[in-house]
Amino acid sequence: MSATLIDGKAFAATVREKVATHVARLKDEHGLTPGLAVVIVGDDPASHVYVRSKGKATVEAGMKSVEHRLDADTSEEALLTLVEQLNTDPSIHGILVQLPLPGHLNEDLVINAIDPAKDVDGFHISNVGLLGTGQKSMVPCTPLGCLMMLRDHHGSLSGLDAVVIGRSNIVGKPMAQLLLGDSCTVTIAHSRTKDLPEVVRRADIVVAAVGRPEMVPGDWIKPGATVIDVGINRIDAPEKGEGKTRLVGDCHFESCAEVAGAITPVPGGVGPMTIACLLANTVTACCRANS
Ligand code: GUN
Repeated sequence: MSATLIDGKAFAATVREKVATHVARLKDEHGLTPGLAVVIVGDDPASHVYVRSKGKATVEAGMKSVEHRLDADTSEEALLTLVEQLNTDPSIHGILVQLPLPGHLNEDLVINAIDPAKDVDGFHISNVGLLGTGQKSMVPCTPLGCLMMLRDHHGSLSGLDAVVIGRSNIVGKPMAQLLLGDSCTVTIAHSRTKDLPEVVRRADIVVAAVGRPEMVPGDWIKPGATVIDVGINRIDAPEKGEGKTRLVGDCHFESCAEVAGAITPVPGGVGPMTIACLLANTVTACCRANS
């Protein structure tokens, strides 16, 4: 491996320390405790793992954490009533409704019912529009974490060619907006992109967010490029024993790390930064609500 490893876990720890310091100051100087409410509907095990780690990190930063666990058959009306209660609760500054929601619930409707000022995911249509027009908004946590790592590694991103693989509302599109905001030349590639390897080979920065295990091989990477791997995919790992699994990203780590200048590992790259940014967004929401 010749690439520099971008240690998201260590970087996230420093962000979380800064958040905790800020929270302590808000308490001491203003009597404020930032509060985050997480709503989860149904019993998807992976979502419950994510939600538990979000709650634990929130408490560790000294903030108030509230978790609402709703049954899989919860009605849209009941969910909207809860969101409205959280919107008007002055002790709650951030609201996160864990996605995906069960099929009978309209995700757009629920997300857009959240007060945009409390939308710490940055998924509300108002925040999407504000980000797209370069105005102050809540910024989605995963792309924000990727941007922070890129800025930390490169300093300025101005003029760099960035290719975002994946066009999701949660990662791909907001990531492209953020890179554009930092004056990158941005391409959004996706499953219909013609000659994807050639497109990726042009990039100084590759952000892979497709959810397909090890899809990007090293020979797609321009020598010296920075690779940010957003994918978290669980695959079978018979070499570890029968029935064992392991986590891999959307990039084939070993071959990409031979060519790239810098790369994020999976796990320990983007994932920890997402949670750190959620905490930072909650503090931001609390400060804005009280300014
Ligand atoms: N499901 C997977 N990632 C996310 C996220 O960042 N926010 C929410 N609300 N749900 C998710």
